[in-house]
Amino acid sequence: MLENLPAQAPDKIIELIGLFKADTRTDKIDLGVGVYKDASGKTPVMRSVKAAERKLLSEQDSKSYVGLMGDLDFCDAMRGLVLGDAVPAGNVVSAQTPGGTGAIRQLYQMIQMGNPDATLWMSDPTWPNHPAIAKSMGIAMETYPYLHPQTLNVDFDAMQATLSKAKPGDVILLHGCCHNPTGANLTLDQWKTLTDTISANKLLPLIDIAYQGFGDGLDEDAAGVRHMAAHVDEMLIAASCSKNFGVYRDRVGVMMAVSTSEAGRALAKGAMAAVNRLNYSFPPDHGAKVVQLVLANDSLRQDWLDELEDMRTGMLGLRTSLADELRRETNSDRFDFIADHRGMFSRLGLTPEQVLRLRDEFGIYMVGDSRINVAGLRQEIIGRLAKAIATVAG
Ligand code: LMR
Repeated sequence: MLENLPAQAPDKIIELIGLFKADTRTDKIDLGVGVYKDASGKTPVMRSVKAAERKLLSEQDSKSYVGLMGDLDFCDAMRGLVLGDAVPAGNVVSAQTPGGTGAIRQLYQMIQMGNPDATLWMSDPTWPNHPAIAKSMGIAMETYPYLHPQTLNVDFDAMQATLSKAKPGDVILLHGCCHNPTGANLTLDQWKTLTDTISANKLLPLIDIAYQGFGDGLDEDAAGVRHMAAHVDEMLIAASCSKNFGVYRDRVGVMMAVSTSEAGRALAKGAMAAVNRLNYSFPPDHGAKVVQLVLANDSLRQDWLDELEDMRTGMLGLRTSLADELRRETNSDRFDFIADHRGMFSRLGLTPEQVLRLRDEFGIYMVGDSRINVAGLRQEIIGRLAKAIATVAG
């Protein structure tokens, strides 16, 4: 059997981790996978997370199963973090998942259970795992245009025009904030317009929110999602704690279904428990419990907010520095968009050949579509990076 397995193409983002490791150049620069790094180039365990882990270690008295939906206090804390008071708490059902990816996978399965004829619409471009998971499950997919090739901002007119072709019941996958890979984001007004389109055409929004707090602030980053949640009949949300709590390897995420229908919510709850049971029985507890402890304790929560704000403003500073340096090196405003984008990523608009040249000649690693992880930068390497980009971009 094993010899009959189809050969798998490597995931383009994960492949970069191995390529970077294998590179023996000491001055190599990793702008690949979306992992936050501090000014010394490390991905630290956040202070608040460490403190909560110590508390957990001393207080936890059992490793018995928690429940198919995971830690319900964690789920409720995440509901508050993402949705604020945009909808009544009772209108949301949620279950813990292994990371945001787990939430996406589980929600796709629920879509298949509830509406097998639905087409899943995703932005072009999007995080490559969005279509990869859907393809592996046989879900019908379409794309909507997202990035304007000239302005490198959202091409909202094109997006709206395409989405008006979606049929009732189709699912529209949206990035809650900090669009991956482009860094270009919808304005609140655009979220409002999109909400009207979604309601009028009876579409189902599926929000992937993995970078809340990395853009304009925790509440600001969720403002569009909250507006939409308050105005549509149904919404699905996949939220990740990997980045904003730095708990990447602990796999902490949550799936939510927001609905004005009591019967719909009851069935969603059953479906969430079922898909968790079918795929892995119980979601992993440790990281979710830690996040819950941080969010429930006033001083830990405040410390986490401060750390997150430092990370966010640090990334903004790196964006401004890189845009300034590129302006100097290229004598143009061609890369000014880097300062306007938000979140961990920006797509530079380089060709795959230019990206490869950066890797081969300069030891600079980024995803093949020229996505850079802004959080992988440090002030002292920005000059060298800008020079290299200017050299290959000609
Ligand atoms: C990324 O896009 O780099 C991150 O979301 C990590 C991943 O799993 O791809």
